[in-house]
Amino acid sequence: MSESSTPAQALTPLRDFITAFSALLDQHPDEARIREEGGSLLAKLVSRDDWLPDAYAQPHPEYYQQMLLHCDSAERFSIVSFVWGPGQRTPIHNHTVWGLIGMLRGAEYSQPFVIDADGTPRPHGEAVRLEPGRVEAVSPAIGDIHRVHNAFDDRVSISIHVYGANIGAVRRHVFPETGGSKSFISGYSNSTLPNPWDRSKDPAAS
Ligand code: FE2
Repeated sequence: MSESSTPAQALTPLRDFITAFSALLDQHPDEARIREEGGSLLAKLVSRDDWLPDAYAQPHPEYYQQMLLHCDSAERFSIVSFVWGPGQRTPIHNHTVWGLIGMLRGAEYSQPFVIDADGTPRPHGEAVRLEPGRVEAVSPAIGDIHRVHNAFDDRVSISIHVYGANIGAVRRHVFPETGGSKSFISGYSNSTLPNPWDRSKDPAAS
């Protein structure tokens, strides 16, 4: 990386997103407004694909990666890089909190599900294909159960997710196709975070 483009400066879009999302939540918006205005902020973040550090864009050969990029100090929201290896998919799962999914690189499919009276999951409507720049929402209020998979069998796809909690610590559920549910807490695939806060080379730094 050149002198004129330090890592912290490359992360300016992420820092600006964190700042703007915090300011939005400071206004105590209802969830619909978070989805709408927060979704617009996320659409802006994923409108360019030049800021995610390579360390948070690496697939695992067997598992999709859930890399924490930022967690609000009051755990009002968390930002995660979801890195899909070729052909990888999630189980059918829920979130229990609102979530925004912004496609950064490649593409993915999200198939909504509902749970039938006998406890088995049933596809609900068509799968949605997310292309770069597109944002989707999930939440208990609008539909919280889905299965997601990389649209490609031969390349990595990456989406940036924002959730209304420290999502890696939230107890939620997977729904086996045979019925029933299993609780899980996802955790994160990474133990260190990107640093967008070194503004020492920022001309606007005071
Ligand atoms: Fe999900």
